Amino acid sequence: MASTTDNKPADADIDTKKQLDYWNSVDATPNGMLGGFESISRVDIQGSKNFFAKLKLDRTEPLRVADCGAGIGRITKNFLTKINKAVVVDIVEPVKKFTDEISNPENFKEEKETGQIGQIINMGLEQWTPEQGVYWMIWNQWCVGHLTDTQLIDYLKRCATGIREDGVVVVKENISNCPDDIYDEIDSSVTRTDNKFRLLFREAGLKVIKTEVQRGLPSSLFQVRAYALRP
Ligand SMILES: C[S@@+](CC[C@H](N)C(=O)[O-])C[C@H]1O[C@@H](n2cnc3c(N)ncnc32)[C@H](O)[C@@H]1O
Repeated sequence: MASTTDNKPADADIDTKKQLDYWNSVDATPNGMLGGFESISRVDIQGSKNFFAKLKLDRTEPLRVADCGAGIGRITKNFLTKINKAVVVDIVEPVKKFTDEISNPENFKEEKETGQIGQIINMGLEQWTPEQGVYWMIWNQWCVGHLTDTQLIDYLKRCATGIREDGVVVVKENISNCPDDIYDEIDSSVTRTDNKFRLLFREAGLKVIKTEVQRGLPSSLFQVRAYALRP
């Protein structure tokens, strides 16, 4: 399923232990989350807000959202909880040191007072099954490269059953600048091509209802694309 470079699929070397060792060695800070590019957070968040607004989702409550591969909750804090005071965000993230930043009573005070921080689930996405039919939006950003193609298809199928009828699954990820997917041995992840993502979405039974390239990022970085998906 994965693209090949040297006759080996790019996702063949994905190793969960290596991924977790890498992320456990990274600072629990915005800079750590963004590989030293903290400065892009603002433009990324604004891009996500603009993309989300164009989806014109119905706002009938309850508005339960999942921030997947959430890290220290950068997206929860700056975007998801700002959509609407009724939004409650469940955090899915395998690295406890990151979610400890969210549980720390000193942090996310306002969001906790308004009841906007839901469950904190320390789990990789390859293990997580969303509760059926309850999510208004499942947001996956800069994390699905840690799953093999097969794991990602299975995970997306579970997301498809996890969203409510008018809900949406969003995947916002780096896009390979080569004809094939690229394996990164530092964090044991795969950067996929746009074609590969579209193929995997189809395999999972999901349709792209909107997609957009993130603008305003430094040209030295991979292109970043957001996809909104529905069964
Ligand atoms: C580049 S950071 C992005 C964090 C957050 N999404 C953001 O944009 O600020 C990648 C995150 O993916 C998490 N991660 C690693 N393996 C994962 C897996 N198997 N499932 C879900 N998340 C994973 C890491 O622990 C880390 O928090």
